[in-house]
Parts: sequence; C-alpha cells; structure tokens
Amino acid sequence: MLCTVGIALLGCGTVGSSVAQRLIAERDAIERRSGVRYELRGIAVRNEGKPRGVDASLFTRNALALIDDPRVDLVIECIGGTHEAGDFVERALERGRHVVTANKDLLATHGPRLRALAQVRGSGLRYEAAACGAIPVVRMLEESLAGDRIDAIAGILNGTCNAILSAMENGAEYDEALRDAQARGFAEADPSHDVEGIDAAHKLALLMQLAFGLAIITPRIGASGITGITKRDIARAHMLGYRIRLVAAATRRAAAVAPVLVPQSHPFADARGPENVVRVVARDAGTLALHGHGAGGAATASAVLGDVVSSLHAIASHRDVVAHLPLEPALELAPLFADLPRLPELPRYPRWDDSILEAPVSLEQRALS
Ligand code: HSE
Repeated sequence: MLCTVGIALLGCGTVGSSVAQRLIAERDAIERRSGVRYELRGIAVRNEGKPRGVDASLFTRNALALIDDPRVDLVIECIGGTHEAGDFVERALERGRHVVTANKDLLATHGPRLRALAQVRGSGLRYEAAACGAIPVVRMLEESLAGDRIDAIAGILNGTCNAILSAMENGAEYDEALRDAQARGFAEADPSHDVEGIDAAHKLALLMQLAFGLAIITPRIGASGITGITKRDIARAHMLGYRIRLVAAATRRAAAVAPVLVPQSHPFADARGPENVVRVVARDAGTLALHGHGAGGAATASAVLGDVVSSLHAIASHRDVVAHLPLEPALELAPLFADLPRLPELPRYPRWDDSILEAPVSLEQRALS
C-alpha cells in the first residue's frame, strides 16, 4: 500500500448512497484492487436527519469545507444538476482534487470548460457513470478507440424512457409506468428531463464530445421525448413488426433524439426495462455495440467505483492518466432523422435505418480514394 487517500462524497441519494455503502462495505476488495488505502472523510448532504443506510456520523451540510479539507484528495460528486454541483466540481478542480462525477447535465453543458480546467490544474476528471449507467462507453471512446476515428454513435441512452415504453408494451399505462421507474430509482429528480428527451440529449452531447472531439453542448441537439406516445401507437407498431424506442444518434454533422420505429429484430429493440444500447461506428474497428443496465443506483455505482479505482491508482502514482484533448468548435448540427422514411400507418415516427450512420463514412472514404 502506497498511501491513504482521503475521499469526500457529495450527495447521498440513489447513486450516492449506493456508492457510500460499497466504499464502506467493500473497502478491502477495492483497496486490494487499487493497491491504495482510503478513508471516506465525509458525505455532504442537504438533510443530515434523513435515513440513507449509511453511517450518519459521516454526514455534513458543509460541502465546501469538505472539499477544502486538506486531507481530501478525491471528490465524488453524486448531487446532479448544474448549479450547486457545478460550483462544487469547479472548486474541487481548482483545488487540484481528483473528481469523479456521474453528472451528465453538468458535462453536457459545461464539459468543455471543466475538462480544460482539469487540464490546467492537473486534476483528474472522470465521468464513466455520466453516460449509460454501467456500460463502459466513456472508457471505450476515451481509451480503447483513441487510436481510431469514430464516425457515428447511436443508441438507447435513457433507461427511464425505455422502462416506460417496455412497460406500456406489456399493457401498463404511461403514468403508472413512470411512477414505477421513479420508485425503482431510474428517473431523474425532475423526470421531465427523462421523458422529454433532455437526459438522452445530455448523454449524446457528452458522447459526441468524446467521440468526435467537438465542443457540442445539449442545446445544439434537437430532442423530443416520449410523452405523446400512446398505447395505440405501440400496439400498431407491434402489428407492423416494430417497437417504438427513444433513439439518440449522431454523426459529426448531424444529431437527433426522438421516438423512432425500430424493427423488432434490431438490437435497439432488444433493450428492455432500464437497459441501454450503444452502437459506435469506427473507421477501423467497424461497428461495436454495448448493451446493459443504463440506470439505477447499483448499475451507476458500479461505473462510479471503476472511476474511483482509476483515480486511486493515479493519485498514488502522482499522475493523471486522463488526457483531456482540447475540443474543436462544433459547426451547426443538422437534424439527423429528417430524411428517415415514415410508414403511412404511423406517420409521426421516423423508421430507423442503420444506413444513416454509415453514409457519412462512405462519402468521406470515397472522397479520400
Ligand atoms: N434518469 C437516467 C436514465 C438515469 O433513466 O437513464 C441514468 O443516467
């Protein structure tokens, strides 16, 4: 063991409490895997009296004092939202702390600036949990495919919408399905972010920053959600051989989030309940697909803890393994689904066609040859 790393946890809701419980209960295993001892110095919460299944003596309402504590090396942000959480992440990076965050809203709207700040301060900034829960898509884009060129990304990026659509396929009403997704800890504190497509757009913006090196922020992406989808639409789609899925997709020049008709045999249609699917089209690696749990406390905590182990390694060896390349300014994005065909029986929904992801590659390859 090289040193003892001090950890501060900010937020103890669905994800934060899962992270805290694992940091405490699985300390031996995590320390063995990282080769580093750690101490959870405190957990910042708004309400110290609320029971959270975690030792209450760790709770403090003073997040700034916890971040500034000189014994803290690593700050884990699980508050969500952009205001308070943004100030805390910025303060931690300014102080040279390593930061692990699950906050897609923050990265999708302030990611380019925060990544630059981390670079300048030599702080670690890790965010695997910010996109697609347990699916290691951030690492895949930042590390595994770092030597390739990525041309397109597409998939099911919001677990709550997928859980609602799956439940409606099985006969549930929309309101009942939404309440169930909230009760199971899939939905955002404000579930309109899920059902209106904003959360999926945040994740798409973040994945576009990583995949394309472009400073895309959420407002650049045209997004619509699932609130207008009826059980009649779902039944009609089923009769025609389709499922309705909230699909997020992007190339370098176009992006969209919208409900789309997906053939029942397509991998996007296989996402059930809170599952996500991500497909990445790379020049040399070809098409890669990941499928797994995209929402929920345990799945998201798994990704946070993976980043914690990486941070512990980096702190112990006095280096930061994450190189944040400067992002290029993004040009105007076209609406990616505008040219998709529609069925006369369900004209509201574009019909998915994989070729919209492949066309830009072949055009560019043709230009090169
Ligand atoms: N509300 C999000 C979702 C949580 O349903 O996908 C995971 O980011």
